[in-house]
Amino acid sequence: MTHAVVTGAEGFVGRALVKRLLADGLGGRRISKLTLMDVDFESPHADSRVVQLAGSIADAAVRAQAYASPVDAVFHLASIPGGAAEKNYALGRSINLDATLGLLEDLRSQAGAPRFVFASTVAVYGENLPATVDERTLPSPALSYGAHKLMGEVLVADASRLGWVQGCSLRLPGVVARPGDGAGMMSAFMSLLFWKLAAGEPLTVPVSREGVAWWISVSRCVDNLLHAATVDAECLNARRSYQMPVLRLSIGEVVDALAARFGADRKALVTYAPDPLIERLFAAYPPLDPPEAERLGLRHDGSVEQLIARAMAD
Ligand SMILES: NC(=O)c1ccc[n+]([C@@H]2O[C@H](COP(=O)([O-])OP(=O)(O)OC[C@H]3O[C@@H](n4cnc5c(N)ncnc54)[C@H](O)[C@@H]3O)[C@@H](O)[C@H]2O)c1
Repeated sequence: MTHAVVTGAEGFVGRALVKRLLADGLGGRRISKLTLMDVDFESPHADSRVVQLAGSIADAAVRAQAYASPVDAVFHLASIPGGAAEKNYALGRSINLDATLGLLEDLRSQAGAPRFVFASTVAVYGENLPATVDERTLPSPALSYGAHKLMGEVLVADASRLGWVQGCSLRLPGVVARPGDGAGMMSAFMSLLFWKLAAGEPLTVPVSREGVAWWISVSRCVDNLLHAATVDAECLNARRSYQMPVLRLSIGEVVDALAARFGADRKALVTYAPDPLIERLFAAYPPLDPPEAERLGLRHDGSVEQLIARAMAD
């Protein structure tokens, strides 16, 4: 009997995780109950094991409903993205920081210490990255979003030390390929490249062909979230925080690989119109070296071909 809770379950990563949990279970055990938390749900879920809780994770009464029956694992994915959090500080703090603390503190009353996997972000590093980012790189967030995620990591480590949860934070890079138009997100071009070139449609990207980003497919990202929830908790570091391994690829390399898969004519469909801010934030990433994460069993996609196959599989 395994009861898992997913916050932000209607989101891009959440939907892929929910699908996988229902199909494959968690750590070899079938999911008996899956509680989904989000502000709203598009439609009722067909699977009878699913309970949809519409409401805010900032609301203690909603959290109490999610935790009403014993919980084995929480995947905390709900968040206010960086741009929106910057425009509305109070909302960003309430969801990205306060609600994370609420979700952790509310687990004190649970018997046993549930697994708690927190989706952090590479935004914790901020700007002015060193020549190589590794596990000794000190975070220096440039936005409240990154600052609150970093604080969330500290809270997860402390709650683990206190024995409330067996926690693990993973710093996610740019996850692809989000369906839709990206709803104005500054990094939308990373996913749009996949869908537009597959469909043979033109697009303009706000970065240069030489710009370099950190990539992971949503499917490999889900593999890592599930691994973090099931790996022997004794193996986790005291910080309870890991950088998810990434493929570091230029925009041009991804375009070329998409053209190799969908047709050489695709290359000419891309217009490069670099915006200095977007280039700096999303296309100027140095090499990343996360041996500790790799020793734990976290993985990137392996090759650009695999990245494309997995990113578009769902
Ligand atoms: N996708 C990426 O490239 C990426 C990169 C770095 C970090 N992350 C992190 O990974 C997590 C998942 O990312 P995603 O791409 O699926 O995000 P998403 O924006 O697609 O989904 C987040 C979900 O959280 C929900 N949510 C927002 N406020 C809520 C509230 N008050 N109560 C309940 N639910 C609420 C939203 O409705 C949405 O469905 C996020 O925490 C994000 O910060 C994602």
